[in-house]
Amino acid sequence: MTPPDSTFSKISPEATRSMCRRVSNAYSIDDLRRLAKKRLPRAIYDFYDGGAESESTLRANSTAFAQHVIQPRYLVNVEQIKTAVDLLGSPSALPIAVSPTGGIGFGWPLGDTAIARAAGAAGIPYTLPTSSTSSIERVAHVAPGTRLWFQAYMLRKREFTMSLIDRAFAAGYEVLVLTVDMPIGGKRERDLRNDFGLPFKLTPRNLLDFATSPAWVSSVLRHGMPQLENLLGFTPDAVSSTTIASSVGKNYDPAFDWDALRQIRDRWPRKLLVKGILHQDDARLVADAGCDGVIVSNHGGRQLDGAIASLDALGPIAEAVGDRITVLLDGGVRRGADIVKAIAMGAHAVMVGRPMLYGVCAAGEVGARRALSLLEEELVRTMRLSGTRTIAEIREGLLVR
Ligand code: FNR
Repeated sequence: MTPPDSTFSKISPEATRSMCRRVSNAYSIDDLRRLAKKRLPRAIYDFYDGGAESESTLRANSTAFAQHVIQPRYLVNVEQIKTAVDLLGSPSALPIAVSPTGGIGFGWPLGDTAIARAAGAAGIPYTLPTSSTSSIERVAHVAPGTRLWFQAYMLRKREFTMSLIDRAFAAGYEVLVLTVDMPIGGKRERDLRNDFGLPFKLTPRNLLDFATSPAWVSSVLRHGMPQLENLLGFTPDAVSSTTIASSVGKNYDPAFDWDALRQIRDRWPRKLLVKGILHQDDARLVADAGCDGVIVSNHGGRQLDGAIASLDALGPIAEAVGDRITVLLDGGVRRGADIVKAIAMGAHAVMVGRPMLYGVCAAGEVGARRALSLLEEELVRTMRLSGTRTIAEIREGLLVR
């Protein structure tokens, strides 16, 4: 594997080769997760890997997939497999888009741009989060061939959110993803235990953790501490990215409601997705508000612990909205078979969050590409083994119980 990632230019050729070798020997998303765990300080790994409170929703996202089984059909000519789909009016090579995940640069320098480029190479959309470590404009510049979506939260300073939305429009982002499952932040106890609170600071409790992760320390020394570039200027007196992140966390707008959603619909003329929908009545209201789709999601189990697993919420939502809007799902997708199950149960496509984080934290863009190629390989294999040749055939016929 050749590293296309500019961040590799600052790593010795020998270290680069060994990283690429390890990634080639990763045979599943779980293998990439292990590599990421090994390279990162525990506090950062836990920030990516963890969920809210008892992490019951985080676990439920995975177990929901395990509770459904595929009943395959055979004696079908499966020589030709087509994984391409139309997603919101444009083609995607796979029924996959990348979910927005904030703070990626803490795990790999300019990790957002690495994932965006990997998504472009795979022919699928990438969603840049508001709290990214590369700005809206930087990602548009370095990933020109990628279908770019932009994720916004409604902040109390609504005009600041609106200014980000306007910047995304000007930079050519084709879809706005509005996350609505975060009127306040969730309680992530791993972060509290690891003293990975924001603002980020080295404390006697976490110092040893950071100091004993040499690969991570040397990458921070080479590239510097990441900035939440979209949020520079959010609070004029904020000096570091982590201080800004902390201000953002306290500034989600709990008053954001259906009227406010309609105002965003009026302001953004391109496609609009609402992320974090778990109830069929809400999905109907999203369609009534003139939005283009929902992302059935519980934020990867990071917000409301005890919330329904995404896959369990999917069926009733797909049934409620029919083909009025696009239905996407994220949460717990780790295998090609998971993608097939979600589509068979009503999703037009899935989105993946942590699989990309594990990949990029293991080895930058090479690792992100590996995550997508593993999912693609497994998807194609599952389709062949279950007698389905197109995504439409999965939606129409594959029996999942
Ligand atoms: C997220 N997620 C998220 N969602 C969002 O709308 N805006 C954001 O900034 C973030 N940030 C974020 C950071 C990290 C570290 C994680 C793990 C997740 C949620 C994300 O978009 C997605 O819903 C879940 O990650 C999907 O679950 P899986 O694929 O990680 O199981």
